[in-house]
Amino acid sequence: MSLTIIIGGQWGDEGKGKVVDWFTTNYKPSVIARFNGGNNAGHTVVNGKGTFKFHLIPSGVFHKGVKCVLGNGMVIDPAGLIKELKELHDKGVKTDNVLVSDKAHLVMPWHFLIEEAQENYRGKNSLGTTKKGIGPAYSDKAARTGIRFSEFINKKFFLERLEEVYKLKSKELKAYGKKLPSQKSIFEDYCKFALKLKKHVTNTERLLRDAQERREEVILEGAQGSLLDVEWGIYAKVTSSATTRLGVYQGTGLLPLQNEQVIGVYKAYITRVGAGYLPTQMDKKTQDLIRNAGNEFGVTTGRSRRCGWFDAPLARYSAKKNAFTEIVLTKADVLGVLDKVKICVDYKLNGKILDYIPSSEAEFNRCVPVYEELPGWGRSTSNIKNYKDLPINFKEYCKRIEGLIGVKISIVSLGPSTHQTVVVS
Ligand code: GDP
Ligand code: IMO
Ligand code: MG
Repeated sequence: MSLTIIIGGQWGDEGKGKVVDWFTTNYKPSVIARFNGGNNAGHTVVNGKGTFKFHLIPSGVFHKGVKCVLGNGMVIDPAGLIKELKELHDKGVKTDNVLVSDKAHLVMPWHFLIEEAQENYRGKNSLGTTKKGIGPAYSDKAARTGIRFSEFINKKFFLERLEEVYKLKSKELKAYGKKLPSQKSIFEDYCKFALKLKKHVTNTERLLRDAQERREEVILEGAQGSLLDVEWGIYAKVTSSATTRLGVYQGTGLLPLQNEQVIGVYKAYITRVGAGYLPTQMDKKTQDLIRNAGNEFGVTTGRSRRCGWFDAPLARYSAKKNAFTEIVLTKADVLGVLDKVKICVDYKLNGKILDYIPSSEAEFNRCVPVYEELPGWGRSTSNIKNYKDLPINFKEYCKRIEGLIGVKISIVSLGPSTHQTVVVS
């Protein structure tokens, strides 16, 4: 095996950071790479080395000798990256192995301002973004007005590019009644950032392809979740990048040349932050219970996450989009606070069971979940070390989910710590 791709199967925050740490500990990869998004992501790792919250840097930087790649498919706020590097340094973690693709795009000051203006303009129809400039940065990439790291680290090239783009962006912001800081001040700030980051910038696609050709172990760390994919998610309440397995190749330069292990990470329930319909949203009392037991607050924005019952139609959809080879089920331990649990097994629209996920949000918003109720297990499972010792109702719940998605659950996560993980036997 050489490529292990770890993807969120829902609306993000499935526990990908923890799962990456488990696989890194067990598989000892030579490289871990991010391929999409930016610091809209918040990935938590809790292990013997401490508690870490990653936004841009792959969740394995503290593993000695592992190269941590920020791939070409990412959009990167240099100030955010410097902050994250410093926080790691202050914790005694070496960051020499953090490598940034010279083809990755920069998040620029105008991206934050444009996003803020657009979100305000949308009013009650706002997307509830993380306000990290992600959408505008990807829009500029597609509009060919983005700036790459290869230009950023060369003062002359950077100035040429800045002069060209600054004019356009000033005009754009004027339409929103906003003014940019001077070009000179942006240039000076970004030159300081470049000086700090230059040593990390390299041709990462070559490094990754070499590792692939040598059949070294490489882990791909997805950000966000499949339902937030700009193409395959529940559009338009999505992020602006390719969050599924398909984003890996475009966002790193790796190629689908060999058998891959594609891990779908699913929460045993579902959460969503930001705007958009959550069909299985629980009643307020149950949500409060789950939110507190599962600490369902955004790592990046601190917002409370809405909580819903496990949604099998959406889970099946994302499993198909990614061709998951196995599933890691996280946070089922949280459901231990309940006596009964529900699963949405189907959607109904105009009284009929659907066999597809609607492409239009308007149609999706009218879908009504059909539930099945299962007995809960009503107790803590956080200290259980072997799958066979889990309560029977817990195992029945896993089996039902497995049956509904049609992919095997190979690992069950029972708490935030990497060691709170059991392999299904
Ligand atoms: P990510 O964005 O997918 O990496 O997930 P987040 O880090 O945003 O959110 C997952 C939260 O759940 C974090 O606070 C994790 O520490 C925590 N977590 C991960 N797996 C488990 C689990 O199996 N049980 C519990 N109780 N917490 C978990
Ligand atoms: P991780 O990697 C959950 C959501 C935002 C918003 C929408 C668009 O931690 O799972 P954006 O700022 O990306 O333009 O916002 O996407 N969102 C996430 N939700 N987990 C994430 O990342 C997310 N990244 C973005 O809340 O609804
Ligand atoms: Mg997160």
